[in-house]
Amino acid sequence: MERLVIDGGKKLKGEITVQGAKNSVLPVIAATLAADGVSVIHNCPMLCDVTAELDILRLLGCEVEISGSCVRIDSTKATRCEIPENLMREMRSSIIFLGSLIARFGCARVSVPGGCDIGERPIDYHLALLEKMGVRTVCGCDGCLRCECPDGLHAARITLPYPSVGATENAILAAVKAKGTTVIENAAREPEIADLADFLIKCGARIDGAGERTIIIEGVKRLEACEYSVIPDRIIAATFMSAAAVTGGKITLRKVCPEHLAPVLPCFEASGCAIKSYSDCVTVSAPKRLKSMGVIRTNPYPGFPTDCQAVVMAMACVADGVTVITERIFENRFRHVAPLRRFGAQIETENNAVAIIEGKESLNAAKACSTDLRGGTALVIAALAARGRSEITGLHHIDRGCERIENCFSGLGGQIKRLD
Ligand code: EPZ
Repeated sequence: MERLVIDGGKKLKGEITVQGAKNSVLPVIAATLAADGVSVIHNCPMLCDVTAELDILRLLGCEVEISGSCVRIDSTKATRCEIPENLMREMRSSIIFLGSLIARFGCARVSVPGGCDIGERPIDYHLALLEKMGVRTVCGCDGCLRCECPDGLHAARITLPYPSVGATENAILAAVKAKGTTVIENAAREPEIADLADFLIKCGARIDGAGERTIIIEGVKRLEACEYSVIPDRIIAATFMSAAAVTGGKITLRKVCPEHLAPVLPCFEASGCAIKSYSDCVTVSAPKRLKSMGVIRTNPYPGFPTDCQAVVMAMACVADGVTVITERIFENRFRHVAPLRRFGAQIETENNAVAIIEGKESLNAAKACSTDLRGGTALVIAALAARGRSEITGLHHIDRGCERIENCFSGLGGQIKRLD
């Protein structure tokens, strides 16, 4: 079984370029189905979720070429609107194909998506908004969804019960070529939403307000494929910052959007890290010992991102004092608590929603298994902080969202290697 072997206690130093955003490139790749011709996507991270999504496009009939971080997608010959369950189960973002498949073919046959086991993760918001736009969905007993839209998608006024990222993305993908003007109220405001909209606008879509609470989309007849570069991954940037913080290091992150990090920077500053932001880079200088970060609550953007909860918890494990983290987005996103305790972390939880972390002077090395993508990166961070040799397994979770994590941290002076 593949595992990471980490000799902790080394200060991370140096520079690292942050990969393109996983949660941006996944909807943008799905959106290429709605555009005629050849799309070229730059800054594409080579992750398991990305290659799984490109496999779906090939299966639908698209031609896909990968060259480093550049992906070329010709959707001209796409003819199928059915995604088999094994590919749908690979990740959560496969549900984003619903909007673009129906926009392209007027139908879709998918199953419920997979993704990190951090909660039930229903898709009721997605199905409800598509129904308002003219889609009839039949849910088969085998978990298969058959969506039909014989008269074509029409605009609607959609009010999301919750600012769901995926539901906002599906609404945008369905609306860009629907008849009329669609209004999405209570839309998610994450930077990845604006990135998806910017790609579609470059293809000829008419979208106003992406990144705000209300998005207005005037449907157009066709979209022309384009060349586009996705934004940097703000969650991976915060992950590297957390690793520098727990090791008392100093690193520079290149090719980041400092404004996308605004929701997490106060947390790093509260811990005693000195942060300097420039146009496309951020430097982090950690103190000898982190301070506790007080109370942290996860919220939809521009609140503290739930995807940074685990890596900040790893920081709290070695901070001086008590940090309280409340997870308000997903009902099962503390699965990294048990494996963190194997490193000697002092963490109590209440109702699987509140974690009280009493920081320790140091952590001991341990063997631990990742439970999900962000929880797995938190274990790597704990191992980088711990004294001694640790082993982390369950790397398929980490590889879904972080490109060769061992190369990233060894490039910053971490003693980490991947063994089979
Ligand atoms: C996206 O997931 C991200 N994934 C997640 O990142 C991220 O944690 C999440 O947004 C919140 O920011 C991708 O972009 C691929 P939601 P998504 O719809 O779209 C409930 C990572 O580690 N809900 O905003 O699935 C849902 O259960 C991943 O990169 C419904 O009830 O998140 C959750 O409690 C993990 N019904 C809340 O809304 C629905 O139909 C937010 O979910 C949809 C969602």
